[in-house]
Amino acid sequence: MAEVVRGRNLLYLSKADVIGLGLSRQTILDRVLQALVEHGHKRYEMPAKIGVHPYQDVFFHAMPAYLPSMQLVGMKWIECYPRNPTEFELPQTTGLLCLNDVETGVPVCLMDSAWLTAMRTPAVTVLMAKHLHPGARRFGMFGAGVQGREHVLFAAHYLEGLEEILVYDRLPEVAHRMVEEIQPGVDIPIRVRGSVEQVVKECEVLSSATIVLREPLSIAKDEWVSAGQTILPCDLNTFWAPEISRRADAYIVDSTEEHDLFVEMGYYPGGSPRITAETGEVLAGLAPGRTCSDQLVVNSNIGMAVVDIAVASAIHEAALAAGVGALLDL
Ligand SMILES: NC(=O)c1ccc[n+]([C@@H]2O[C@H](COP(=O)([O-])OP(=O)(O)OC[C@H]3O[C@@H](n4cnc5c(N)ncnc54)[C@H](O)[C@@H]3O)[C@@H](O)[C@H]2O)c1
Repeated sequence: MAEVVRGRNLLYLSKADVIGLGLSRQTILDRVLQALVEHGHKRYEMPAKIGVHPYQDVFFHAMPAYLPSMQLVGMKWIECYPRNPTEFELPQTTGLLCLNDVETGVPVCLMDSAWLTAMRTPAVTVLMAKHLHPGARRFGMFGAGVQGREHVLFAAHYLEGLEEILVYDRLPEVAHRMVEEIQPGVDIPIRVRGSVEQVVKECEVLSSATIVLREPLSIAKDEWVSAGQTILPCDLNTFWAPEISRRADAYIVDSTEEHDLFVEMGYYPGGSPRITAETGEVLAGLAPGRTCSDQLVVNSNIGMAVVDIAVASAIHEAALAAGVGALLDL
């Protein structure tokens, strides 16, 4: 590869380049934790996502962040088109991430951000699942798409003591295909269930990555949820009946500002639950998560740019070390 020269060129990493680097789940978890702890200590700059909305239920988000202690600055430009898979055979979520040099501001790396989004989101979920619910035996996942698959793999990797993973997708064939593909590499059984109620009732820890809509679908009912459970949605208020979050003993979000922005945009039509802490504060030991075993805890993580740039920096470093990517002149 030609020489990387600050201010003269940048490194472009395609989706295949990023995946081919093969960063381990542990590397992702380490970077994500580092970024979340920085966020918990308020050592960051990260305005709430600004967005544009060409269609109803579609969003583009600009996600800039600066992490002084890690000397990282950059921005993810991401879109979510829920109808892409059915109408265009394209992913719901695509995007690009740009890392800049903190000292001079010049762009140093541009990368496809689909893989890092698929990896950093479940990393946040399982870091919190372990913190809030150590020793859980059953993990339930709603949605067996890009996020669902990685959630299951991260849960199997990181949640010690897990005995079984249950999966539900509104398209059972999608869930079965996912299990067939990933079960050979996972020691604990992954089972598909045909009913949401069953999964909610059988698992102590639950996550969902289905679809983000302004109006809640309320598919998982309040009466199925019991004391002591931990629920970690990645799809805002869509999948779970809103009463669950409102009556939870703890309602933790990754970013209060981001959460409030979604509330303002109409994603919580019945009103916002009362936020008790932020994810980073809990992981940094600055705020309590669960304080007793029979509490119902909801932790909604909608995704933060500080986490994106932290993972992107690991990808960038690995690419430079391996000589992967294409140089584009500025
Ligand atoms: N929180 C975050 O940081 C973050 C990051 C990326 C994506 N997301 C969100 O996660 C969700 C999933 O993203 P993805 O990339 O995995 O999408 P995907 O299209 O690959 O997968 C979604 C899966 O959910 C299933 N599904 C849809 N509606 C369902 C329902 N009502 N009940 C059960 N299953 C249902 C679909 O059949 C599909 O298999 C999206 O809403 C996306 O916006 C959140």
